[in-house]
Amino acid sequence: MSVAAASTVGPPPGMDVRLSSNESPFGPSPAALAAAREAAAAAHRYPDDQSLELRGALADRLGRPREEVAVGTGSAAVLMDVIAHACHGRGSAEVLAFERSFVVYRLAAENAGAHYVEVPTTNPPVPHAPEHRDVDALLARVTDATRVIVVDNPGNPTGAHLDRDSLTRLVEDAPAHVTVVVDEAYHHFARGQRGYAAVDELDVTHPRLLTVTTFSKAYALAGMRVGVLVGPAPLVAEVDGRRSRFNVTGPAQAAAIASLGDEEHLERTVAGTLEGRQRMVQGLTELGVRFADGLGNFVLLDVGGAVDDVVVAYAGHGVGVRPLAPYGMRSQLRVSVGTPPEVDAFLAASREVLVDVPA
Ligand SMILES: Cc1ncc(COP(=O)(O)O)c(C=O)c1O
Repeated sequence: MSVAAASTVGPPPGMDVRLSSNESPFGPSPAALAAAREAAAAAHRYPDDQSLELRGALADRLGRPREEVAVGTGSAAVLMDVIAHACHGRGSAEVLAFERSFVVYRLAAENAGAHYVEVPTTNPPVPHAPEHRDVDALLARVTDATRVIVVDNPGNPTGAHLDRDSLTRLVEDAPAHVTVVVDEAYHHFARGQRGYAAVDELDVTHPRLLTVTTFSKAYALAGMRVGVLVGPAPLVAEVDGRRSRFNVTGPAQAAAIASLGDEEHLERTVAGTLEGRQRMVQGLTELGVRFADGLGNFVLLDVGGAVDDVVVAYAGHGVGVRPLAPYGMRSQLRVSVGTPPEVDAFLAASREVLVDVPA
């Protein structure tokens, strides 16, 4: 399978209802927009390369020292930097991940000259439940060459997650030479459900445990590009030391700081997303089609055959959905949760588009 080609990554053009990129349809906090506008007045200045205020605000939030937090140009860039750093100078480095993990891990491994090793998941991703990810199978694949274990929790595109016990076991049993990266891009939507636990809810230690999060999802700042790295100070400093300089713009830093201060907006976004996800689940159940409702801000739909015509049919209704060929998933689509009217539009389109789809 090839890495994501640029043409498969961007949203389809011209869709009224854009449910293809796991964005927040509720938009950023008004305070974030105001802060970004104000910061743009200083666009002739370089931003704070150290992002001190933003890192401080994140550290306060997490109850950790600022040295344990770094930021980058979206979490995809942070992941690229982390994986490059962990594999650097190792001729036969391996990056270990579950099958159907976020596509950037493969890209990052290939960029780092590492071998990307996928551990099969034990169930197909549908019907009605995301795949099961077997931590013991993952740990069994660790070798001396393994430099990185990377897990998206919950995962994109399947929405599958590791529960508290599995994640604890993964971290505790991973050898000390391995950098364990837990990508929690969707943690706001997953907390408190179906046994999910984020790293900050666990009582675990590992010398090379890194957590990656993002402002792109629940904070709705995907266009601003701010990702976050949390972990042991020396390791964070090493990764941060190698990133490209001045990478997080002034407006992006300001917007992220202001977002952290607007709890109400975050809560409304998470509640609206979970409500929308539930309505999509209900609508798809009524239609009798196969789908998986994981813990992200999206659902996975199985159309039982090649998806291309279905994507085109949705587009005919102005609804952009995401085909998953880069993941080797040729009969499935990912559909992000939209606003209530967008969910209505998706379900109305589904009633016509999915008539012939096998249950
Ligand atoms: C699991 C996961 N990690 C990371 C990202 C990257 O997000 P960003 O680079 O916008 O922070 C995404 C985006 O869809 C994702 O699904």
